[in-house]
Amino acid sequence: MHSHQQKILVIDFGSQYAQLIARRIRECEVYSEIVSWRVSDEWIRQFAPQGIILSGGPESTIGVNSPQIPDAVFELGVPVLGICYGMQAMALKLGGQVESSTHREYGAATVTLEQTCRLTQGIEDRYSEGNGRAQLDVWMSHGDRVTVIPRGFNAVGVSENSPFAIMACDAKNYYGLQFHPEVTHTPQGQRLIERFVQDICGCGSLWTLKNILKESIEIVRAQVKNAPVLLGLSGGVDSAVVAALLHKAIGDQLTCMFIDTGLLRHEEALSVLEVFAQNLGAKVIAVDASEHFYQALVGVSDPEEKRKIIGRVFIETFDRESKKLGDIPFLAQGTIYPDVIESAHASHSAHVIKSHHNVGGLPKDMNFKLVEPLRELFKDEVRQLGLELGLPYEMVYRHPFPGPGLGVRILGEIQPQYVKILRAADHIFMSELKKQGWYDKVSQAFAVFLPVKSVGVVGDARHYDYVIALRAVQTVDFMTARWAQLPYDLLDVVAHRIVNEVPGVSRVVYDISGKPPATIEWE
Ligand code: XMP
Repeated sequence: MHSHQQKILVIDFGSQYAQLIARRIRECEVYSEIVSWRVSDEWIRQFAPQGIILSGGPESTIGVNSPQIPDAVFELGVPVLGICYGMQAMALKLGGQVESSTHREYGAATVTLEQTCRLTQGIEDRYSEGNGRAQLDVWMSHGDRVTVIPRGFNAVGVSENSPFAIMACDAKNYYGLQFHPEVTHTPQGQRLIERFVQDICGCGSLWTLKNILKESIEIVRAQVKNAPVLLGLSGGVDSAVVAALLHKAIGDQLTCMFIDTGLLRHEEALSVLEVFAQNLGAKVIAVDASEHFYQALVGVSDPEEKRKIIGRVFIETFDRESKKLGDIPFLAQGTIYPDVIESAHASHSAHVIKSHHNVGGLPKDMNFKLVEPLRELFKDEVRQLGLELGLPYEMVYRHPFPGPGLGVRILGEIQPQYVKILRAADHIFMSELKKQGWYDKVSQAFAVFLPVKSVGVVGDARHYDYVIALRAVQTVDFMTARWAQLPYDLLDVVAHRIVNEVPGVSRVVYDISGKPPATIEWE
C-alpha cells in the first residue's frame, strides 16, 4: 500500500498548534495534511480522508464572522475529532450550545472521566481517591466553553471549569476535547491521538521512513526521467537532504552547485565538499565567489541593504555559473511542508499553493521546472530522512544558519578581516558547546562581531581591540526565544579561549536579551 492511501485531514482554525497536531498524527505513522477552514467542500471530498481533526483557534465560536466548519466534514461519514475551538464549533454545528465563560481556563487541569467512550477507554493518568474515577492531566487554553452538548453525545469528562471537557458520540465516531492532546503538557495526549487515528479511523502504519524514501525516489525518477537536474547546495539541512535523496534517485543526472559567499562558517565549504563530493560521490561544482560578495558590500552598513546585496550577488552568481552548464531543465529545491503551509495560508486558500523559493531566494523568472521532494515533510522528518540516507548527524542536526550568513553577524560594514575574526571566535564557541554537551540543548548559538574597540591588557601590554558577543537561545518556533542559561564555567572557557586564541579580540560579552524585544540575530 502507498503511504498516502490512508490520511487524516487537519482543519486549521488559526491555531498555533495546528502543525503540532499534524506532526503527532505522523508520529503514529499516518499521513496528515493541514488546510485552512476556508477550504472548499469539494476539496475535502476529493481529498477523502479516513478521519478529520478540527484544530483550536484564537477566535470565539459565538462571535460574528467566526470561522465555520465546512459542511463536507460531517457529510463524509468519517470520524471527526474536535479540539478546543474545534470541539465548540462542532457542538454548535450539531445543535449544542457554547457560552463565553468568565473563568478563562489556562494551563494544567484535571479531567475526571464520568463515563467511558472509545476514545478514552483504558487511557488515564490515575484514579481519583474519592470515587475511583479515571482522571487525565491535561493542558487547557480556552475562554468559551460548551454548555449544552448535541443530541446523541455523552458527557464523558469534566474539569473544574468545563462541564463538558470531553464529549463523545461513539455511534458516529464524533469526539470533542476541550483540552489540547497535541501538546506534551497533556501526558496521555499522544495516546488519545493514536487511539483516534489508528483504532477509530482504522489507519495502519503506512507513513514510514522506508515508504517515504522509496516513493520519493520513484516520484523524482518519474518526474525528471533522463534529464539533468541542478541543485543549489547551501550547507543547510534541507538542501543537504535533497542532494542525498536525488543522488540516490538519479545519480549523475544531479549537479550540485555550492557557492562560497565568503560569509560561511569555519571550514563550512570544505565540509560540504567532503560529505557530498568525496564521501557520496556526487557531482559538486564549487564556486568561490567571496571576492564578488566582498566587493559588492564595500561601504554598506545597513542590514537590509546588506541582505539585498547578498541576495542579488547570489542570484547573479548562480545564474552565471548555471548557464555554463548548458541546458538544465530542472532545479531542485529544499522546500519543506511548513514553507508550503505558510504560502498557502498567505494566499488564504489551501489548495492554491505558491512555489516557495528558499535557495538563496532564487527568482521566479528563472526558466526551471521545480523538483521539490521534501514538500510534504516536516523538519523532523527531513532530519530522519537525512540520517536514513547516511548524512552525518552533525550536518542533519546543525543549528539554523541565515541565508546572508555571517553578513548579518558582523554589525555594519563587512570586511574580510572581520570575517576571519568572527569565524575563529564562532568556531571556538561551537566546539566548546559540543564538547560540554550544550550544543543540542540550545536551538541556535553563534558569535557576533562588534566593530567597536575596547581596551584590554595581555601581560603588560595594553590592547585596543574588537568585541565579540556570544548568543545562545532556546525556542520552539523561533518567533519567540529565551536566552540560554549556559553555565558560567562554559562561558568562562569560551571567553578565555577567544581572547587568547583569536588576534584582534579584547573582550567577550554574553547576550541576555529575550525575543521579544530583541531578535535572535543582531541585524
Ligand atoms: P530573528 O533574528 O528574526 O531570527 O529573530 C529568527 C530566525 O530567522 C533566521 N534569520 C534569517 N534566515 N535569512 C534567513 O534565511 C535571513 O535574512 C534571516 N534573518 C534571520 C535567524 O537565524 C533565526 O533562526
